[in-house]
Amino acid sequence: MKIIMLGAPGAGKGTQAKMIAEKYSIPHVSTGDIFRANIKNGTELGKEAKGYMDAGKLVPDELTVKILLDRVAQDDCKNGYVLDGFPRTIPQAEVLEDALTKLGDKIDYAINVDVPDENIVRRMSGRRACLKCGATYHIEHIPPKQEGICDTCGSELVLRDDDKPETVQNRLKVYHDQTQPLIDFYTAKNVLKTVDGTKDMKDVFADITAILG
Ligand code: AP5
Ligand code: MG
Repeated sequence: MKIIMLGAPGAGKGTQAKMIAEKYSIPHVSTGDIFRANIKNGTELGKEAKGYMDAGKLVPDELTVKILLDRVAQDDCKNGYVLDGFPRTIPQAEVLEDALTKLGDKIDYAINVDVPDENIVRRMSGRRACLKCGATYHIEHIPPKQEGICDTCGSELVLRDDDKPETVQNRLKVYHDQTQPLIDFYTAKNVLKTVDGTKDMKDVFADITAILG
């Protein structure tokens, strides 16, 4: 099963993608997590991506597409994957579609996690992320067992550099300008399913599994 998660920054794509990956035994592929791991490890790619990310802008398509295609060509993606944060522009969606068509394959579902802008800024300021294993917490909704420490791997939790309120506003603008058109793109392909992302995360997940079966 090949699934795309769509939705505004902070809509809960990562939270839901992790649960989907576990239930259906497919890898969770997040371009944002790949960039953050590269920034943490001080790679050339990380250095290049950081400037765009901290400003709330998109990393250029050329860079992002290559990373994503390399990742989904790996062995563990043979039986499917859940993409989180990719595609984010129409050109990215077209490249992905071409690559899949060449393999006689296609996307099965594009899940749009719908959350209005008003809810987003509040969510982001409470988010805490583990840069080592990619786990995500929220200081009110999903606190870690020990404050500031990841339950899964014991690393320190951080407020992401791009979760400052002014950067979140930029990310929302970029989302509406460049990513929202993908909703029409995948509607036209008959794979778009929208879920109400303002519900409790367990209820959002129940709505998603009702769609995926
Ligand atoms: P990326 O890492 O993809 O960030 P994003 O899309 O902005 O989304 P987030 O990760 O912020 O939110 P999310 O929807 O995953 O929400 P989460 O589950 O964490 O990208 C970061 C940057 O990298 C981009 O700005 C760009 O620069 C670059 N980039 C990445 N991919 C790219 C691409 N393809 N092309 C170009 N550039 C790219 O949830 C948010 C918070 O809410 C958490 O604290 C969570 O615990 C909480 N929460 C989740 N669900 C609920 C719920 N139902 N109720 C209450 N709280 C909830
Ligand atoms: Mg995320």
